[in-house]
Amino acid sequence: MRVVLLYLVLASFVLLSSIKDGSAGITSSFIRSEFPSTDIPLDHEVFAVPKGYNAPQQVHITQGDYDGKAVIVSWVTTDEPGPSKVQFGTSENKFQTSAEGTVSNYTFYKYKSGYVHHCLIEGLEYKTKYYYRIGSGDASREFWFETPPKVEPDVPYKFGIIGDLGQTFNSLSTLEHYLQSGAQTVLFVGDLSYADRYKYNDVGLRWDTWGRFAERSTAYQPWIWSVGNHEVDYMPYMGEVTPFKNFLNRYTTPYLASQSSSPLWYAIRRASAHIIVLSSYSPFVKYTPQYTWLKEELTRVDREKTPWLIVLMHVPLYNSNEAHYMEGESMRSVFESWFIHYEVDVIFAGHVHAYERSYRFSNTDYNITSGHRFPIADKSAPVYITVGDGGNQEGLASRFTDPQPEYSAFREASYGHSTLEIKNRTHAIYHWNRNDDGKKVPIDSFILYNQYWGSNRRRRKLKKNFLMTLVDEAVSM
Ligand SMILES: [Fe+2]
Repeated sequence: MRVVLLYLVLASFVLLSSIKDGSAGITSSFIRSEFPSTDIPLDHEVFAVPKGYNAPQQVHITQGDYDGKAVIVSWVTTDEPGPSKVQFGTSENKFQTSAEGTVSNYTFYKYKSGYVHHCLIEGLEYKTKYYYRIGSGDASREFWFETPPKVEPDVPYKFGIIGDLGQTFNSLSTLEHYLQSGAQTVLFVGDLSYADRYKYNDVGLRWDTWGRFAERSTAYQPWIWSVGNHEVDYMPYMGEVTPFKNFLNRYTTPYLASQSSSPLWYAIRRASAHIIVLSSYSPFVKYTPQYTWLKEELTRVDREKTPWLIVLMHVPLYNSNEAHYMEGESMRSVFESWFIHYEVDVIFAGHVHAYERSYRFSNTDYNITSGHRFPIADKSAPVYITVGDGGNQEGLASRFTDPQPEYSAFREASYGHSTLEIKNRTHAIYHWNRNDDGKKVPIDSFILYNQYWGSNRRRRKLKKNFLMTLVDEAVSM
């Protein structure tokens, strides 16, 4: 009898343990830092200046309108302003069309920037490869990009997600792995160059090196920019007190197309996704421009056209790392209920130099008098993913809170990038790729079901429409 009781006690213990393990997330113990967290030396080939007098450098492109039929091409020349013209066309070496851009320069302390060119190319065809040429004479340079498919609900598209990149050998590893991923556009979650780790004239110089370093990707596909704390560049000790000065002079966003009043927060639609970009370091509480704009933009989201609703920001709203712990609480308290109401699919953030993915949880019941202290499982909530693991010189954030909170599904302190491969209106495949294992060994992956089209009612409607189409086709045959 005693033996039976003992078995029962042991069995219930094992059962309870397995239930706990089943609901809890995974804290990976994997830590590998192949390279030291120091920036690549200035004379390294990844920063090489292109040959020729006044050759364009630091070439980068981004989406130029709301729906993906325009591109903004940006680059820097150093000897003289030179032309701001982009010649482009659909076949190689034939540039039938051209567009005229603008040029400007600026100072940062005693650093004088090169001539920064921005040129908007409009009226492009969807799903088309364009070749483009910038610069003049022998020093002109040629690149290409592909426009996205028309905004439609079931078009597949593959996004990459990179954050906190910097310019170390780890950053290079991340970028090289990303280039193998086959993704078509980067959703960048802030902290580009980490140039603000330097002083005086070196700040501007390290913005330049980062531009040349990232060009291998940024010249060929759009990077959708959101800003982080390393873009603020508030340096009163050297008289530089205008926030985002380097970033705003060098990088542009199509903010006017989404009726935003600032390049730091805006939205685009690309293929089957509506992407909202927020600024963690701009005012966002009630009555501020960013708050008012987001409130309006969310009403413009049409899930019949763009089933996927993705939000980018720098500071994560859910973060169980000791680094930057609770920094996202203020924005969470302002926007979380909207993200749930509008059925946001996924929110990508950076800032914490590690990887973390949440289950669908919310904490909207909490307020300063209710006493409901803990996030609860909530099927209507977005998935929160932190990809601050690009590999910058500050190194990894390796101390996670213990125990792992229930909302945290997977977390690991190593370098990498993510991809989100949209298949149709209901499914997308998500991967997080640790640097050291390359693309073939995704460490964390799952199928992301669309929040809007995943509901039973809408699925039934979709099925009915599909059957009706089959009937129509059969009748017309
Ligand atoms: Fe950051």
